[in-house]
Amino acid sequence: MAAALGGLLFGFDTSVINGAVNSIQSDFNLGSAAVVITVAITLIGCAIGAWFAGQLADVWGRKPVMVLAALLFVASSIGSAYAFAIWDLMSWRVIGGLAIGIASVIAPAYIGEMAPARLRGALSSLQQLAITLGIFLALLSDAGLARAAGGAGNELWWGMPAWRWMLLVGVIPAVVYGLLSLTIPESPHFLIRKSRNKDALAVIRRFTSPVNPEQRLKEIEESLENERRSTYRELRGPALGLQPILWIGIGMAAFQQLVGINAIFYYSTTLWQSVGFSQEDSFTTSVITSIINVALTFVAIFFVDKVGRKLLLLVGSAGMFVGLVAAAVSFSQATGSGDSLTLAAPWGPIALVGANLFVIFFAATWGPVMWVVLGEVFPNKIRGLALGIATAFNWIFNFIVTLLFPIMSAAVGLGFVYAGFAFFAVLSFWFVKALLPEVSGLELEDKSKLVRHKKPTTA
Ligand code: GLC
Repeated sequence: MAAALGGLLFGFDTSVINGAVNSIQSDFNLGSAAVVITVAITLIGCAIGAWFAGQLADVWGRKPVMVLAALLFVASSIGSAYAFAIWDLMSWRVIGGLAIGIASVIAPAYIGEMAPARLRGALSSLQQLAITLGIFLALLSDAGLARAAGGAGNELWWGMPAWRWMLLVGVIPAVVYGLLSLTIPESPHFLIRKSRNKDALAVIRRFTSPVNPEQRLKEIEESLENERRSTYRELRGPALGLQPILWIGIGMAAFQQLVGINAIFYYSTTLWQSVGFSQEDSFTTSVITSIINVALTFVAIFFVDKVGRKLLLLVGSAGMFVGLVAAAVSFSQATGSGDSLTLAAPWGPIALVGANLFVIFFAATWGPVMWVVLGEVFPNKIRGLALGIATAFNWIFNFIVTLLFPIMSAAVGLGFVYAGFAFFAVLSFWFVKALLPEVSGLELEDKSKLVRHKKPTTA
């Protein structure tokens, strides 16, 4: 739970900006391009943080890296709340992004290493549960503070407008995360890397494999033998210059974003308003969607170790496709232009049902299972680096979708954009079916066979 709490901050800090963004726009006098950049720039920080987190975790250990993330979270919440100019705010948002990126890598890595094989999927899904809770809490906290001040731009306490308080309250979960991180043990994989086998054995005995700890220690040791730390060279392989398994990780990370989940979570209130829902109805819709997102994650936690990752993902892709097509068809019936569209009956309710059906299937499958897969699919030899890189791609694709969604919707219409998401749902089905290996129930050590080595070239 301590590690997964990083997920809560991930969800909170990526979506807290929603409630603040309109007031930021008027306080700093921003054009619409600057607004989109303010929302999306965090995601660049996320990609950078994710890229380096694995390497840092291999050098310093998992625990210090979590503490670092917590410190960055605290700094960014305070810095953005007191930002005096838009560039200042953006800089703090990037720093917050670094923290989110780090947390997004370290949670699956740590949980993957600590959990016994039979529980690994369920425990890894806790990270997504925390993410969805974080998104939900941000929505509630934003709405509560805005209501208390009678509007996000109005002064609340100590002369500070509500939108600044929205950003400031992120300090609370960040401090809890930091304190909890200090109480957890270092992972046995890291301890063995540092030749601290006695400490590793104690952790294994107490937390992971009390039945046969020596055996487990030996397994991890063997798999780590001869490789003190992963290097970029080990990522090289026969598939377009990289290990095939790395491409699979990157593909999973990309598809989880390309189906358009964050077009819903980052823009939902504006989305529903733009098709004619009242402000209140749009907000209620966002709350319901967010609750669905939390609740359905339990389905994945329950099933992921029972039916396996692949089956869940396939069902998810198919279900998301149906929801997205329903939304695409309804949105294409919208009349009007720009931000003032209307969906005549029955298309409004169908769009609503379609979008929420999509969220239902995403939350029960791709949302959590993608993180589970990234935490476990890479062999020990390359895990730190590969996990960081694949996660960085998740953020890069998140950035692309978040940036392009408003632009594309304005250019070709919401209907076409949702059809595009549906198309990616089909591709994701094919990708999982054809390429993803099933690894549920295997110990992390049993997967070195997933790496193929380039034959040495002779001169
Ligand atoms: C996954 C995605 C994240 C999204 C969340 C929604 O964690 O990686 O981008 O916001 O699900 O629940």
